[in-house]
Amino acid sequence: MSMTYNPRTATAPDPTASAGPAPMETHPCWVEVSLTALRNNFRAVQSHVHPETSICAVIKSDAYGHGMAGCASALRSAGAQWFAVSATDEGIALRRRGIQERTLVLGGFWSGQEEAIIQHELTPVVWERSQIELLENAAQKLKPRQRVPVHLKINTGMNRLGADRKDLASIYQALGSAAHILFEGIFSHFAFSEVVDLPHGEEQLQRFYEAIAQAEKLGLAPPIRHMANSAAIAGQPKSWFNMVRPGLALYGYCLPLTSAVTGRSVSAPELAVKPALSWKTRVLQLRAAA
Ligand SMILES: Cc1ncc(COP(=O)(O)O)c(C=O)c1O
Repeated sequence: MSMTYNPRTATAPDPTASAGPAPMETHPCWVEVSLTALRNNFRAVQSHVHPETSICAVIKSDAYGHGMAGCASALRSAGAQWFAVSATDEGIALRRRGIQERTLVLGGFWSGQEEAIIQHELTPVVWERSQIELLENAAQKLKPRQRVPVHLKINTGMNRLGADRKDLASIYQALGSAAHILFEGIFSHFAFSEVVDLPHGEEQLQRFYEAIAQAEKLGLAPPIRHMANSAAIAGQPKSWFNMVRPGLALYGYCLPLTSAVTGRSVSAPELAVKPALSWKTRVLQLRAAA
């Protein structure tokens, strides 16, 4: 089945719509998202990584413009058990469309959203003590008999979001003493994953190992560990751990991998993915070249 929507009028993706422009369109222009391609891409990623590696399908930002709800349903039917969104409101929108699979909120949450996170059973990303405290209080109030799973983001060198090494002892102390929180996952994000032999990538991995070791020394052993986006899935198997987070690859794209040493592209076992989105129009006239 194709899911279609018109980018000019920005109408919402409608999984039940048939392909093609509206009948009276004077400027027919539309995109089609192949749910079959999405499912095949998910399976291609799954067969590329170790069988025991879970896939957290990144469907943030309206599934990179492909339509979040339709993509999530298709990916779920291909076996996706985890999704990643940017923000709390995206996670709530997913729940309202009937997607109940585990959903990681990559961009954390604003103070005041902690109850909604728990009520909608989203999995928040944390990187500060204050976030842990907000969740602990909300969980105590809303679900006193359960533990709310969280994933800790470590800043290993991307320098966007995440806990810095100097703050880890205090964060681990907060996680270890929070009775209503389950320290389920630990993760990081590469700054340049499509450059395969950059020392920066190795350093990021090293810092990630150190953060895990520090947690383990304190008796905290988050069972889920993840670092790889699409390019790292393609080119850096040692970053797969037991979960990977593909975005681009699911939609059918793979950035070319290059070597920092030679500046040339490098070959890696191919991720057999194909673009899921086609941009279409109707041809008004064809003219043979004179
Ligand atoms: C934290 C995180 N993980 C994974 C991804 C997926 O990356 P990609 O689309 O390169 O696979 C993103 C996307 O920006 C991200 O921010």
